Amino acid sequence: MTSIARLRDFVTRFTALHERGLDREALQHEGAALLRELVAQDDWLPEEFARPHPERYSQYLLHCDPLERFSVVSFVWGPGQKTPLHDHRVWGLIGMLRGRERETQFARDADGRFRAGETSDLEPGEVASLAPGVNDYHQVANALADRTSVSIHVYGDNIGGVSRATYDPETGTEKSFISGYSSAVVPNLWDRSKNKGAD
Ligand SMILES: [Fe+2]
Repeated sequence: MTSIARLRDFVTRFTALHERGLDREALQHEGAALLRELVAQDDWLPEEFARPHPERYSQYLLHCDPLERFSVVSFVWGPGQKTPLHDHRVWGLIGMLRGRERETQFARDADGRFRAGETSDLEPGEVASLAPGVNDYHQVANALADRTSVSIHVYGDNIGGVSRATYDPETGTEKSFISGYSSAVVPNLWDRSKNKGAD
């Protein structure tokens, strides 16, 4: 199986997971195994969804479940690009496809201020997870100064439409945002003639 068929297969299997009525933890556990399979090969993401922007990181929607139970997004980091400290408010899975991503987790104290926790690098083929109430605050950066990095994220909602926040790590000051997406189009998963004999 090559090309977009890998993403189609992932979307089909992730949708089927929801039919099993799993709780959040089990869904993430099973979903992580599917994502690990998806990012084990770097031969399927169309170039237009892996294109860096010169000034800021990009987030391209690859698929949104029709019931908005989950969404699949490619994050494309140009050299040196990073997010501010932010939250998600829904569960998430991060699968590294290309390059290297550096994540610093934060804990929030009762007074609203943040403390930086562990910093870790995600290598191609690896999958990390986040969940509200567990580890929902982080800052993410391209760990490579001279190359584009690409990761595939799955969230428990239509993440581009979720109202969430960025934070000033020093003061804890919160700023609401809705991320949206970097492109108005999604990949066509369904032209099976493209993969005849390869599925
Ligand atoms: Fe994030």
